[in-house]
Amino acid sequence: AKITYIDASGESRTVEAEIGATVMETAIRHDVPGIEAECGGACSCATCHVYVDDAWTETVGGPEPMEEDMLDFAYDVRPNSRLSCQIKVTPALDGLVVTTPERQA
Ligand code: FES
Repeated sequence: AKITYIDASGESRTVEAEIGATVMETAIRHDVPGIEAECGGACSCATCHVYVDDAWTETVGGPEPMEEDMLDFAYDVRPNSRLSCQIKVTPALDGLVVTTPERQA
């Protein structure tokens, strides 16, 4: 599946994501800047925060309660905010577009 990451300055990078990996792991594996993922995907750091593109929010879905709690620690949270370590890549997400915030928490 292809995932496009757009950074805060508008620069975009499209990479090939492995099905079953998370959007965070995919970014790290491809050296996509803007995602720090300090906790390594345990949903306990909020430094993998991304904004899901409006066209994709329904397909991706909202955060689980635990993720929602952690999102409180993220910088500039918006209605389409998600922690990218909690988004698993599926074939349905082929073409997904996410934007990384100006800075992580
Ligand atoms: Fe830490 Fe996602 S990597 S919350």
